[in-house]
This record gives sequence, structure tokens and C-alpha cells, in this order.
Amino acid sequence: MWLSLFILCNGHTCQPHEIEEDRRHLFTESWKFSLDAPDDAYRTDLDDSGWRTLDLPHDWSIEGNFSKDHPAGYGGGALPGGIGWYRKSFLLSEDDKGKVIYIDFDGVYQESEVYINGQLLGKRPNGYISFRYELTDYLHYDGIPNVIAVKADNSLQPNSRWYSGSGIYRNVWMVKTHPLHVDHWGTFVTTPHINTTSATIKINTTVRNSKNVTGTFTLQSALLDQDGNEVASIKNDNITIIADKNEVVQNLHITTPQLWSTSQPYLYKVVSSVYLDGNMVDRYETPIGIRYFSFDPKVGFTLNGEKMIIKGVNNHHDLGALGAAVNTRALERQLEILKGMGVNGIRTAHNPPTPELLDLCDRMGFIVMDEAFDMWSKSKSKFDYSRHWEAWHEQDLRDMMKRDRNHPSVFIWSIGNEIPEQWEDTGLLIANRLGKIAKEMDPTRPITAGLNHPYPDNSIYRSGALDLVGFNYHHEDFETFPDVFPGEKFIGAETTSALATRGHYDMPSDSIRRWPIRWDQKFIEGNQDLTVSAYDHVSAPWGSTHEETWKLIKKHDFLSGMYIWTGFDYLGEPTPYEFPARSSFFGVVDLAGFPKDSYYMYQSEWTKDTVLHVFPHWNWEVGQKVDVWAYYNNADEVELFLNEKSQGIKKKQGDELHVMWKLDFQPGTIRAVSRSAGREVKRKEIETAGRPVKIVMEADRSDLKADGKDMAFITVKVLDKDGNMVPRAENLIRFEINGNATIAATDNGDPTDLSSFQSHQRKLFNGLAMVFIKTTKVGGSVILRAHGDGLENATIELVSQ
Ligand code: GAL
Repeated sequence: MWLSLFILCNGHTCQPHEIEEDRRHLFTESWKFSLDAPDDAYRTDLDDSGWRTLDLPHDWSIEGNFSKDHPAGYGGGALPGGIGWYRKSFLLSEDDKGKVIYIDFDGVYQESEVYINGQLLGKRPNGYISFRYELTDYLHYDGIPNVIAVKADNSLQPNSRWYSGSGIYRNVWMVKTHPLHVDHWGTFVTTPHINTTSATIKINTTVRNSKNVTGTFTLQSALLDQDGNEVASIKNDNITIIADKNEVVQNLHITTPQLWSTSQPYLYKVVSSVYLDGNMVDRYETPIGIRYFSFDPKVGFTLNGEKMIIKGVNNHHDLGALGAAVNTRALERQLEILKGMGVNGIRTAHNPPTPELLDLCDRMGFIVMDEAFDMWSKSKSKFDYSRHWEAWHEQDLRDMMKRDRNHPSVFIWSIGNEIPEQWEDTGLLIANRLGKIAKEMDPTRPITAGLNHPYPDNSIYRSGALDLVGFNYHHEDFETFPDVFPGEKFIGAETTSALATRGHYDMPSDSIRRWPIRWDQKFIEGNQDLTVSAYDHVSAPWGSTHEETWKLIKKHDFLSGMYIWTGFDYLGEPTPYEFPARSSFFGVVDLAGFPKDSYYMYQSEWTKDTVLHVFPHWNWEVGQKVDVWAYYNNADEVELFLNEKSQGIKKKQGDELHVMWKLDFQPGTIRAVSRSAGREVKRKEIETAGRPVKIVMEADRSDLKADGKDMAFITVKVLDKDGNMVPRAENLIRFEINGNATIAATDNGDPTDLSSFQSHQRKLFNGLAMVFIKTTKVGGSVILRAHGDGLENATIELVSQ
């Protein structure tokens, strides 16, 4: 029998708001870190005073230098791995006695071991999974320090087909509760009935009794609207505590629900309160959204009864120059840039994402395909997760789904990407098993997989585990799907794989190139300087250009939509697969966050914004033949002028998505004018730029939070004497910061730039660079200065408060 039934807050019985505030704390500050620790660095008496002190989340790989000799290879981003240890000492107070204390990790890459006061709590090989350990029985109170030690082992490489990052790269939480409390991920909220006038909300709650509490308890579940007003509530009294885990099912009925959608992502919150003898002992919140959807073999995807094409992107988890270390603002900025292009979906390629990503997708309105695995029992790289498959896949899949199944943004579970077992009978057995687990965890969402063998003898398809048949590529087979797979529902789980280097253009642009191809260790096609043209005319041989893909998707409702490979460039998997390339070329947006030109094709098709995007720049050799492309919408035609002389009016014909002129270059000005019924809609001018004379900087936001986490993203470019941006500029710019912020990284989007992301100087790449500023916890003004030889300096001031 556990005696201390009431938990204390500063010596008194906790009030409801205190229970909530006290329950879960970020546990990320002032950890000690070493890449050179002894094997027994879990020992409490180890002297870690010489170790580096840092705040989590932390990725040690991104701090290293690029080299093709790192065992991860350039496929893994050409950055180092190794074994890192993290330690943190902490004290517990009198009030903590009698509470149950847990530590929650959102993700550690990888093969983590966690120790408390010298005791091993557990090992977790999967670098993307969230996990919890209970600390209670090992803790000291009364002024005796506790030591938590975490080993992250990313030494066996290659273990990933992209850049993984290393260390405690996601958040860590300490949870303190009464012994009777809502379990870890202990609610599962579904909406068995919804229409515009009413909804039923079914709440399954698991109440954990961790210390033999006896008797009965009360569970109240309340639904709060977005403003915090209670909409409905239900209370079950006298529930007998029968087990370690007590399951309670409650139903709430509401009228006129506000539905969640991608354009109006309305969020409610379920608040679960546990009472013992009339006193509240736990309070737990679950944000939810109310929405209904279906996939149909003919109509494709509908959300709340309305047909919608999923216009999604795949993204890996890295944040470019910031590496894998999670930063909510950096993630939010990525999603804002993607929203601006009209994107409404994210596939978490190819692993469980950080929980902050799903929170943001809930709040911003994205249709998420939440993916569990990139491989099953057969490996894709020498030391990958296949080594742990047998022992861990079930727990990992269950944990991912348990953690994520209340997010309204999650619509689809993917049990695997391009799994080699699809060509073998084992694929049938494994898919079958995974399908059963997934259905048990969540019967409300469809299961898919990113298949690449587009025939019915595919073992994963044959297993019957898939509710939604997901294909990667094979755009040439799309039209045959309804005949080859009669009655099935489809999703383009991964499409496109177009390639481009931002700001680089090769002529002529009107023939499609499937390259670069690397064959037998030899690079047989592609530019020797590892650039790829940014006209939308290059794709990997297995893929298709942006325009080719979108034309097909928009034509066939049954396909439900697409997830482009990829939204953002990512570290690792360069294609051209040749050093010094160390990051990908697939993104519609480059690694630094600068859109490539295709971004505006999507914007013209996927948003209501009026678009007229003309490219390339206007700095060429006299007489050179230059292809000028324009993406436009909300207009019938575009006229192009070169030095005031019309080069003709063009209209998109048939299913065309751009118009083009072939010009003989002369310096001066090109001007495009779009018109609707003869009336001017929009105009764009590009002038031939002269020599750079002046640096300019622009911040995405200038009012920042002094929380040690908020970020500003500063675009840097150079202008000529007339104020034109110099498009091919390569000037080296040096940065200096004063005030309460730091330079977290610099970048320019060049996949072959080998200078460290931590450097405070950066060459412009095709005219642009980016500085990533991070606030400290002290408010005040922040001044960033930029210097470059022979250039007028620039200064930008931000406020952090
Ligand atoms: C796919 C794969 C992705 C990525 C992509 C590159 O086949 O699923 O992870 O490698 O190719 O085109």
C-alpha cells in the first residue's frame, strides 16, 4: 500500500493548476557532454567537471568538419559519428517525495543507454523513437545529487541513407506525478460520429497505478474549445482500481463541432482529471481535432466531405545547417515556407518525427503520413536498424502510434519505405504482422507503405495489410493502376525526385534530362562542378520532373495526391553522388531555405496568390541563347520585353505549366507582363546587374523571444550601384554579432560548400547566403554586422524580449 496519497507543492496539497504546471518539465538545460568519455561514464563518482556544458537538443555531428573519409560517407552527409556521453546532476526537493518520477526522451540517435545513479534503466537502439523510463526507485532526496547519464552510440556507420545527426537531438522531459496518474501517452481520443451538427468523442484513458494505490478513483474528461471554454464534460465516479493499468472509456456528445481542416485547423483539447477521495491528483491534456475523411478508389481523398488533392512533400528530419537538433521555430519556418508554396501535406520520411513537428502540423494544417521504418529485417546500409528489427520492431511501431494517434494532422500510417522484402515471401508475413499491430493500435486511419514494385505480385501488397496502396515513382504506370489493382485506393507516397541547384541554369532547357547517373563508381553524366540546372528539366532516372508529375496527379482523382521528394534539400544523399557534394539536390527549397524556381510553379498551381515568376537572371554573355521561363496564374497571357522591345505574347497551351521564350542575350532589362482580358495583372522586371557594391540583410522576423531558443533567419545578398541584386555573386561575407543572441549557423544552399556550418563567414552562392541567429535568455537588442572586401557593410538590428 502506498501511503502518501496526496502530492505536495511547496509544502501544501497541490491545486489543479499547480498539478498541471508541476507535471512535465523540459529537462534540457546544463548537461555535460563528452565525445571522449570512458566506457563507464555512467558512474556517479566520475569527475565530469572538465566536460563541455550545453543545453539540449544537441547534435554533435553537425559541429564536425566535412570529410569523405567519415564512415557515414557523403551519403550520410560526410560528417562524423562516434560515441557521445551526456550527464546531468539534479536535486529533488521534499515535495518530490511520494511522487512517481519519469524521464521522457523524444529521440536519441542512436543505440542509447540511460543510467540513473549508476543503474542502467534501459537501451533503445532506434534513433527516432520516443521513450520513457521510471526513475522513482533509484532517486535521492534531501540534498543528495542524482546523476543521469546517457550514452549515444553512432559509431557503427554507415547506418543511414541520409544524414542522421548524433546525440540527444530532441527534447528531454521530467515528469512528476501522483502514483495514480494518466499513463504515458495514456489517452486515445477518436470521433466515431461526426457531421456538421454533432459529434461523438470517444475517450479511452489508461490510468496507471504505479504504487499499489487501492480503492476507487474518479475520472473526469472535459472538452475545451480553442479559447479554453468547456464544451462538454463527463465524470465517472467510484472506478475500482483493479490493475497497474486501468482502462476507462467515456463518450462526449457535442453539437455544431468546429471541424479541423488544412485551411482552418481548429483544435480542441481533452483535459483528463483524476481524483482520489475528492482531491485532484492528476491532470493531463490531449489536443485533438474533429475531422472526417476518406480515400476512395475513384474520387481519391476527401476531407470533411470535400474533395482535396494531397499536395504533400517528403522531408527528412534535419534542419539544414542546424543539423538534427530540434528547434521549433526552425521547423515552423520550414512549414511556413512550404505553406507559401501551397503544400498541404508532409510525409515524415522515413521515420517517426519529433513531436513538435506534429504539433505544428496540427496547428498549421497539414495532412501527415507518419512513417515507421525505412527497412525491416533486410538492411539497406551495413549497420542500419535491420540489426535490431527482430527485437524491437513491434515495440517501436506500437510506441510511435501510441504517441502520435491523437494528432488530427496524422491521416496515414506508413509501415515502411521501399522495403526490400516486397520482392520476397517474407514481405507477406512481416507486412501482415505489422498490419495487425497497426490496426490494433489505431483502427481509424489507413495503413500504407511506399512500394516500388508496381505489380500485384508485390508481397507487401499481397499481404492485404494496406488500406491505401502507396507507390514511390513509376509515374509512367499511374494510369494503369485502376486496371492492375482493381478497386484499390492509391496515394503517391513519394514522387518526382527532380534535381536542381538554386540559381544555376543550363541551356537548352526544353529537353528533359534523367541524370546524373553514377555507374560502376564512375560519374557518367552531369556537370563536372556538380551543379544541376534549375529549369525544371532534370530528374533522377527513377523519377520525373515537377511538371511531369503534377500534370499526371492533377489529371487522376484516384491517385489522391502526392508527396514530392522533397520539400527541402537535406544533408546527405547528394545526387550527383560525388564528393564534395554532401547534401541533396531534390528539394523544391534549398538547404538554407531559399526557394528554387519550381517553388513558383507549385505556387501558381496550388495557391490563390497571383503569381508571375520569371527566370533566369539577366547576366549572361552577349549573344548567348537564353531560355526565359515564366510561371503565371490568374491571367490569360504573358508578354515579354527585352529592352522595351516585345519578344512576343505567350499563353500556356493544353496542360502546360509554364511559357518560354528563347532570346539572344543583350544586357539591359527584361520585363514580363501578365494580362487578363487585356488588363495588366502583374509585372516583373529583371535588370542586368553590375559589380556588387553593397551588402543588404533582411530578417524573417525582427521581434524575437528571449528564451534561448527563438531564431531569426537573415537573408544576405549584394547589390550593384543601381540597387540590382547581383545574381552570380560569390563574395565572402563575414558576420559579427553583438547583444543577446548568437550566430547558430551560416549557409548558402550550395550542396558542395565544405566550410563548417558554424563558421561566422560564408561565401554567397548564386548571390545569396543565410545567417541563423538564436536568442539567449536575456532580452535586449541584437546587432548583426556584415562585412565583405570592397563592399559597403550592412547592419541589422533585432529585438529580443
Ligand atoms: C527513394 C527513397 C528516398 C530517396 C529517394 C531519392 O527511392 O525512398 O529515401 O532515396 O529515392 O530519389
